[in-house]
Amino acid sequence: MAAVLGVNAVFHDPAAALVVDGETLAAAEEERFSRRKHGKEPVPFSAWELPVDAMRWCLEHAGLEPGDIDVVAYSYDPDLAPPPGPDVTDDGWEGLRTLYVRRVPGFLSTALPGLRTERLEYVAHHVAHAASACVAAPHATSAVLVLDGRGEVASHLGGRWRDGTLDVLAAQRLPHSLGLLYEEVTAHLGFRRSSDEYKVMALASYGDPDRFGSAFREHVAATGDGGFVVRPMDLAALVPAHEPGEGWVDIHADLAAGLQVRLEEVILDLARWLQARTGEDTITLAGGVALNCVANARLAAEGPFDRVWVQPAAGDAGTALGAAMAAATRRGQACTPPDTAALGRGWAEGEIEAVLKAAELPYERPTDLAGTVATALAGGAVVGWFQGRSEYGPRALGHRSLLCDPRRPENLGRMNAIKGREEFRPIAPMVLAERAPEIFDGVQPSPYMLFVHRVRPEWEERIPAVVHVDGTARIQTVDTADEPLVGAMLRAFERRTGIPVVVNTSFNTAGRPMVDTPQQALECFGSGPIDLLALGPFVVRRTSG
Ligand SMILES: [Fe+2]
Repeated sequence: MAAVLGVNAVFHDPAAALVVDGETLAAAEEERFSRRKHGKEPVPFSAWELPVDAMRWCLEHAGLEPGDIDVVAYSYDPDLAPPPGPDVTDDGWEGLRTLYVRRVPGFLSTALPGLRTERLEYVAHHVAHAASACVAAPHATSAVLVLDGRGEVASHLGGRWRDGTLDVLAAQRLPHSLGLLYEEVTAHLGFRRSSDEYKVMALASYGDPDRFGSAFREHVAATGDGGFVVRPMDLAALVPAHEPGEGWVDIHADLAAGLQVRLEEVILDLARWLQARTGEDTITLAGGVALNCVANARLAAEGPFDRVWVQPAAGDAGTALGAAMAAATRRGQACTPPDTAALGRGWAEGEIEAVLKAAELPYERPTDLAGTVATALAGGAVVGWFQGRSEYGPRALGHRSLLCDPRRPENLGRMNAIKGREEFRPIAPMVLAERAPEIFDGVQPSPYMLFVHRVRPEWEERIPAVVHVDGTARIQTVDTADEPLVGAMLRAFERRTGIPVVVNTSFNTAGRPMVDTPQQALECFGSGPIDLLALGPFVVRRTSG
């Protein structure tokens, strides 16, 4: 047996993943255990913090002891980072990060006593991202593109995965970074850096990309050699920084739109270069920028590749899995691509029922759970849906989801109120895979909700809650063979309404990670206007009066 524990801890979204003999047995983000969104602050001072609970759970899930681990693969290589100078306060304490990463063996031995820490392997940050895409994808060969804020000295990797080997063809060095520019604009617009970039993407669809288009084109461009430049921009000269408590107006949306469209154009240029260099017909993507589903959709529609596959945990959390896969591959192990993102914690029926009994809540066990939930949804209910193992990555994919009826336009406001979200934030549909092409344009299988598609005009009126202002929707296609219970629920909803689409958003409230345990699901259910909770095979109903 060869067991590899992958660890991401260096910047944000700490996570752990366990790959044994090439099989991914477990992968989870620390925030689901600690209940602290994104796990920790993305500052050098926190680089020592390991995803202790996620690591321990991975071992427990597989029935392993720390001494059974052959390799710990850590997704950052301090040898690639600039050496710390005599004063660690230089350069925003960057040297402290490197020093902490060198101390990881000591921190690991405290967290997991018995672990053979001499078997720690540092994996270059972007190689870890790349492996989470090309090794984890269900394609034997691919071009691979990684874009994020930063790794050790770069913000990008372009390469090719073939015959079990990753060839790195391009790596754009810092300070040029598309991810950091997106973070800058995120902070400038009053959102949380390294966290709320998807809000900028949502705001962009309301804006005019031409207003600041030339400014972004002047400063951001592909360089024709697989890389790009991002010259410093004075954002305040374009738009005053957003003040707390102020609303978002046209000029903010225009800035977001200018940035978003330029990002898409540069990604297309990078993809064309990669396709010409590799001749591959599939591209796999990872890095936080690959969570930009609007850019992904444009790459799929206009780019040179026949297929685009995106790692569902494309942000730094996914580097735990990628580091483990890279280390396993280096040892000659063939990794099996996971066929699901549901790699986190799951609960036996008995465990769930014990939680319900402890809460002394009335509950039932319907013979047809999918039908019971579909009836409630069609009748206007908001449903908490807690099934199977939790998702690895930021999207709820039918395991820790809040569901409602897409026919009712008011459900957008209801969901945003439950979740305490801004009014411009869209909610997304899940759809039966076989019905998706008749409802949305240009559909390819999209089980991880990482692409947007235009809603066909004849369907806009039928599913108004999920149609974004620009006529698109960020869809999850559900293949009943992969997700039988979610598929059965969608089919049951279609039998009742004629609509094979249900609204799916993550099961959490504002600022909190998704619920992970049955208890957290009950707490979230009790704290907001959620009408019904499908907790494993059991159903709890909100009683009025
Ligand atoms: Fe990263």
